[in-house]
Amino acid sequence: MAQDSLRRLASDLKNFLAAQDEDEFILTAAPKRAAAVVSPKRQPADSLPQMPEGETLTVEFARAHQRIPSASEPQTELPANTPAAVQAAKPGAVMTSSQKTAALAELAETIKNCTRCPLGATRIHAVPGEGNVEAELMFVGEGPGFDEDRQGRPFVGRAGQLLDKMIAAMGLAREQVFIANIAKCHPMTDPLHPEKHGNDRAPNAGEIACCRKYIEQQIAIICPKIVVALGGVAAKALIADAKSLSALRGKFYDLHLDSVTLPRPVQILATFHPAALLRNPGWKKDAWLDLQMVMAKLGLKSAK
Ligand code: URA
Repeated sequence: MAQDSLRRLASDLKNFLAAQDEDEFILTAAPKRAAAVVSPKRQPADSLPQMPEGETLTVEFARAHQRIPSASEPQTELPANTPAAVQAAKPGAVMTSSQKTAALAELAETIKNCTRCPLGATRIHAVPGEGNVEAELMFVGEGPGFDEDRQGRPFVGRAGQLLDKMIAAMGLAREQVFIANIAKCHPMTDPLHPEKHGNDRAPNAGEIACCRKYIEQQIAIICPKIVVALGGVAAKALIADAKSLSALRGKFYDLHLDSVTLPRPVQILATFHPAALLRNPGWKKDAWLDLQMVMAKLGLKSAK
């Protein structure tokens, strides 16, 4: 009996320690200075996460009759409900803080009322995004999960806790950056059972097309120096390139958006999604190299 309890205790302790390790970001000693950036070594493509294929929603929804634009459909014009501040902004001029705050609030309201795709019928809360309107750095994930759907805030689950550690490792606080997603509502594999855990999926091409203008407007309003795309879905949507994440990682791209003109150049770098890092802790070293490239550009020093 005592032996059984001891064995159970040892196993609980082992699981606890394993979980701690997975949840840490920096597993190895970090270089002292961010300036000492090493180009990330490329890994063989098949050892890195691949972009999940778009899925088709087969369930009938109350609003399923709504038209979903195809992913290839060009969306070059400003949508009719573009925030007034975006429309009013002078081309080439970055908005003031109060203009940004007003434009983001207006956009968040539009997102909360959005029913352009079936996800609008199954979400609990839309998740527009949050953060510092003057952020130099913006993180973009793929879409809200279970916890985010319940709280209406991005990256608040386990992946979000790791993202917070990644941000802290860069010498920043979550409040200093802006965090958003490509899709603003929770994509579920089984939308008829939203209470289920493990019910997350990547947004499909139609859902991404419906949501694209929102993330584009957020980037144009905030106009950060750098956008970090977290994972293949965000990287492919924003770099507009059919390559896999492994091919896109490790270098900066000039960001070009379909529906808005950026007031000044913004660069984008793709790295691993924190959820992928939780599943594959061995990739954290490469993610850290990616983030160090960002730190070097922004003149940030590591917190460690
Ligand atoms: N994964 C994402 O891509 N975004 C979130 O907000 C949470 C988890």
